Amino acid sequence: MGKDVIVACDFDSAEKVFAFLDLFEGLDRKPFVKIGMELYYAEGPAIVREIKARGHKIFLDLKLHDIPNTVKKSMAVLSRLDVDMTNLHAGGTIPMMEAALEGLTRPDGTRPILIAVTQLTSTDQEHMTNDLLIDHPVADVVMHYAHNAKIAGLDGVVCSPLEAGKVHEKCGEGFVTVTPGVRFADGDKGDQKRVMTPEEAKKIGSDYIVVGRPITAAADPVAAYQRCVAEFCD
Ligand code: C5P
Repeated sequence: MGKDVIVACDFDSAEKVFAFLDLFEGLDRKPFVKIGMELYYAEGPAIVREIKARGHKIFLDLKLHDIPNTVKKSMAVLSRLDVDMTNLHAGGTIPMMEAALEGLTRPDGTRPILIAVTQLTSTDQEHMTNDLLIDHPVADVVMHYAHNAKIAGLDGVVCSPLEAGKVHEKCGEGFVTVTPGVRFADGDKGDQKRVMTPEEAKKIGSDYIVVGRPITAAADPVAAYQRCVAEFCD
């Protein structure tokens, strides 16, 4: 699995995302772009086609979670958008994940990489116990959901860089770990609490890092991106 830096393009309009991506025109390496709910709901599928047409790989981060039949049919639509990676909630259970894989697989047998969100990092132990009535420790639930994703045939999970090593131990080295929560050693953490530098994420075995504000809000986004690539990929 080739290591790559995925840039979280958390913008609310096509205008803003294109102004940002224009900065990278002429670079040898086209950033792998994450399109999340904000941009997708603002601009619809056209934004995916337009960014793809500019030559970027795309991680469509829509975190599907519904009954298996609905997820299967929705994944078939996303697959036709020709994205490179997409995701769902492992909490939808193994049958939902299996249905998603089926829907995502194109007639020629190819499909985007499919990864699962285990427990959102915003869900702490208190909310798991009191709101969801799940008594197990969060860390165990994360590993169990990762294993369920593996059993369902998915390619990997989104997880904290701190969990990437353990996920590989339990689910195998080939099981992809996509890790947000990355910050430069000399950078601002913002609202991310458990962070790692790109270099540390590389050492611990992350396959992809997802980086948003350290690049999008940098004074020089291209230099920040290149620094991530140098620390993580090279
Ligand atoms: O700006 P920042 O680098 O914090 O952006 C991280 C990106 O990764 C955002 O798009 C955020 O929604 C996403 N993400 C995250 N933590 C998770 C899952 C996704 O920060 N557990």
